[in-house]
Amino acid sequence: MSVTSVGVGGAGAQRLLRANDFDLKQTAHSHRVVALWRLITGYRLAYGIAILSLGLAALARAASQFLLRDFVDHGLMGNGSWPLPAYAAGFVLLGVVTGACSFGAGRLAAQAAEGACFRIRSYLYDHMQALPFLFHDNNATGDLLQRATSDVEAVRKLFANTLLGIGRAGLLIVVFMNGMILLDMRLALWSTLTVPFILAASFRFFPLISSRYDLAQQQEARLSTRLQENLSGIRVVRAFVRQAYEIRMTERDNRGLKDQGLKLNNLHAVFWSGTDLLVAAQMVLSVYLGARAVLAGDLTLGSYLAIVAMLGQFMWPVRNLGQVITRVSTGWVSYTRIMAVVRQEREAAGERTSLPPQRMEGEVRFEHVGFAYQATGGVDDLGTATIARSPAVLEDVSFIARPGQVVALLGPTGSGKSTLVSLIPRFYEFTQGCITIDEHDLKTLPRDWLRRHIGIVQQDPFLFSTTIRRNMLMGVQGEIDDETLYAAARVAHIHDVVQAFPDGYETLVGEKGVTLSGGQKQRVTIARTLLKNPRILILDDALSSVDVSTEGHIRAALKALMKDRTTFIIGHRIQSIMHADQILVLDKGRIVQHGRHHELKDRDGLYRDVFRIQSDIESELQDELWKATVASESLPHAGINGVGMCDPVSSNGRTI
Ligand SMILES: Nc1ncnc2c1ncn2[C@@H]1O[C@H](COP(=O)(O)OP(=O)(O)OP(=O)(O)O)[C@@H](O)[C@H]1O
Ligand SMILES: [Mg+2]
Repeated sequence: MSVTSVGVGGAGAQRLLRANDFDLKQTAHSHRVVALWRLITGYRLAYGIAILSLGLAALARAASQFLLRDFVDHGLMGNGSWPLPAYAAGFVLLGVVTGACSFGAGRLAAQAAEGACFRIRSYLYDHMQALPFLFHDNNATGDLLQRATSDVEAVRKLFANTLLGIGRAGLLIVVFMNGMILLDMRLALWSTLTVPFILAASFRFFPLISSRYDLAQQQEARLSTRLQENLSGIRVVRAFVRQAYEIRMTERDNRGLKDQGLKLNNLHAVFWSGTDLLVAAQMVLSVYLGARAVLAGDLTLGSYLAIVAMLGQFMWPVRNLGQVITRVSTGWVSYTRIMAVVRQEREAAGERTSLPPQRMEGEVRFEHVGFAYQATGGVDDLGTATIARSPAVLEDVSFIARPGQVVALLGPTGSGKSTLVSLIPRFYEFTQGCITIDEHDLKTLPRDWLRRHIGIVQQDPFLFSTTIRRNMLMGVQGEIDDETLYAAARVAHIHDVVQAFPDGYETLVGEKGVTLSGGQKQRVTIARTLLKNPRILILDDALSSVDVSTEGHIRAALKALMKDRTTFIIGHRIQSIMHADQILVLDKGRIVQHGRHHELKDRDGLYRDVFRIQSDIESELQDELWKATVASESLPHAGINGVGMCDPVSSNGRTI
């Protein structure tokens, strides 16, 4: 056993994607403000300049109001500091400065926002790839998609508009407040009478809008999940004539989303109309008090006009501040929803693994292994995620598979066969006993290394929407030549099928291309696994969708390939497993029989029962075939042309 230990937990947790070196997890436990600040690392200067530009724009606006005052009080009276065209040029110049600064601020902030979202998206993708199978078992794909798209978009808006909006509003308030104080202290103070009420209303609405928005996001995730499942399972829906039911259900979720949206908008509407009223009252009061001061000769007309203009500019950001504060709440919620995923532990986190050996021989030893799936809470319940253990799926499983041996697993459906083999590449962690590979404790072997040496053809074949060639080369490290590709395809009996397509191996499969049959898909996945050249080969019911004669050919071709690698075959047909070096018969998670075909077939038990049922069907078929042959010989023109008769076993269906 190797002794060097390398930590792969914590900050060293494997990052699969290296689009950027930003570890979002490090910010997961920081305060949100600190986390957001860290998120724009590298863009902080741009963001800072954006806020300064906004300050400059605010100053330029205030300056134009002062120019207005000077223009009205002196310029129009003919005793201005400058000639009239100079006033005009001043207004234009200040307008240009305001526009240019606002434009620059928008662009720079957008850069920071897009950069931060790029980080979040690439980290999330990387992270979801590394999260344990259990996490994916317990969380709906639609919900995760929602977090990776709509929630990230909300965070983008937080940076691009909302936070910048707060900066802009804050600066405008400071600048115009000072401007008004310079023009007339008393009127300026009167003009801020409603400001505390508007701000108090904003903070009152902040939590209300947060929780409403959270509910709306959850409802949207529910709808996305339903749509996603409905579309990927469209055949099942139609086959079971469930369209009406599914449409009703989708409508229910859709209506739920509409209701949540309406409630959210109602809250906004109450907030907006209330603050609008306050702003209007403030304007009326200030305009009235200002007018009285002008009539009393306490204020010049120019100052009055400048103050009224400034008040308009001042009340707008005050009201806007309320809006952005409520918007922050939605960005916050989305950020929290994203972080709920980020905080989940990756597969390799927090453990110590050994440096793996150079080579894998392929000896697999199970000693009293037990396993139970854990039902963890979804990411919504992050803080209080409960881990409930389901009943044991495997109990006291012990066997040794020597390098190069073929181990077959047979058992009723749900007996734990797929679960057993999924423990070997550490898709799930066994909960009792011990598993070793080449005498190394499985828990000390890095998952990447294991999975690189283990090839698994899963029960439900999955192909990506790309070319057949790319699908087949998924597990190949480096370059391989076409002949190797074809050889694997020939073993899997798919080469001729692929060659018959007009585009051959470049044929697109899936949504944009041809639809392969279940058996063809299975054979592509077999070829894909063979090309990986694994030391341990696992075929989980890999030939279930293939007709019997093709299965026979594939089995014969595989035989040579299985010779120097440990192979696990899960199968329901005795024919596919009878030549195995050892057969494990599983029932309710326990090995109830263990031996070779010739030992088990005569021993009382599940294996003999299955063998007998299948043999009976075989002999019944042989009888039928024999009768049909005799009949055709006595009736030479009876029309039996031999189609379907040349391969009697091919009419044999799957049993047990
Ligand atoms: N991801 C999972 N989470 C919780 N329980 C699971 C999960 N996968 C399987 N199970 C349960 O574990 C048990 C064994 O399932 P498994 O898929 O290993 O059976 P199997 O022997 O491969 O069946 P089959 O022949 O139908 O493929 C079943 O009761 C199943 O409900
Ligand atoms: Mg299975």
